[in-house]
Amino acid sequence: MQFEVTRNPNPVPDAEREAIIANPTFGTHFTDHQVVVVWEKDKGWHSAQVIPYGPIMMDPSAAVLHYGQEIFEGIKAYRHEDGSIWTFRPEANARRLQRSAYRMALPELPVDVFVDSLRELIAVDGAWVPSPEGEKTLYFRPFEIAAENFLGVRAAQRAEYRVIASPVGPYFTGGIKPVSIWIALDSSRAGKHGTGEAKTGGNYAASLLAQQKGYENGCSQVMFLDAETATYIEELGGMNLFFVYKDGHIATPSLDGTILHGITRDSIITLLEDRGLSVEQRRISLDEVREGVSTGEIVEVFACGTAAVVTPVGVLKSEREEIVIGGNEPGALTVDIRTELTGIQYGRVADRHNWLVKLAD
Ligand code: PLP
Ligand code: COI
Repeated sequence: MQFEVTRNPNPVPDAEREAIIANPTFGTHFTDHQVVVVWEKDKGWHSAQVIPYGPIMMDPSAAVLHYGQEIFEGIKAYRHEDGSIWTFRPEANARRLQRSAYRMALPELPVDVFVDSLRELIAVDGAWVPSPEGEKTLYFRPFEIAAENFLGVRAAQRAEYRVIASPVGPYFTGGIKPVSIWIALDSSRAGKHGTGEAKTGGNYAASLLAQQKGYENGCSQVMFLDAETATYIEELGGMNLFFVYKDGHIATPSLDGTILHGITRDSIITLLEDRGLSVEQRRISLDEVREGVSTGEIVEVFACGTAAVVTPVGVLKSEREEIVIGGNEPGALTVDIRTELTGIQYGRVADRHNWLVKLAD
């Protein structure tokens, strides 16, 4: 698919852009351009374009505004020491976008168009990719919306795929400092056969009330339990979880249909297994974690995701209790795996699994 490029006649001045990318905060500034590709039921995908960044002209009856038929992705561009720009496992994000599309009755974007869309945006906005110091990146937000003007409740016959990009620092500021997590006891994110596995806006909307409660209690993320029994740990509002045991094995909740298939999660499982460590994917109850932490069986807990990278969890908290993990200090394996993963992403550590894809020289 050929992209037609219309340059922004009023890009952010160089000095202003440099100031922004020297000290970026998550998701507040955006580059000079965006990608748009249109889909219509009778035409398929067409009209691939790179256009100036700016508001979307949308009819108030557009289906996405009423029924939330929307999906998105999160993926980063990393600048290496030699100035080249790379991304991490983009085909995995492309395939996940397709699975999310299937679940939300949206059209599936071809994998090559997804990868090309990142390359096209970098071709015009490459100067927005920050230098690697302080784990800065350019965060891509590819998304797909139901863009048909129709209030009937059915899958839209017109959709748009877009990509915007934002220079970001780490999602959690303050370095590798353990975060406190609020346990949602009276709020579920996803149920059986629901949309938990899809990266769709509604899952995040469903998490916000609990998240607000978490903030009020000094926590920066919310942990959701299974909707049926409120027994088993699923994931955080925007991250997957790992538990490290004293004997060296690691456990992470299995992908039972309600959890996002994290690409960071999958990569970490591979890196841990490369070290000869055993990683169990299974149900993990809150009771097991409470007991494991108190007996010293569980020595580290960490969260992971594209935005969060790898972040130690120091405290799990609810109205009923406070579980403090590893003295609220970052664990050794957490720090090590974070160093290895970011090392691969920034080109400092050998990319044994060919996860990196070059976007620009
Ligand atoms: N879980 C949820 C709910 C998320 O939003 C994310 C972030 O994308 C993740 C897990 C981690 O996924 P990934 O590692 O692919 O970014
Ligand atoms: C990501 O890690 O890319 C996410 O999407 C998490 C959050 C910012 C929604």
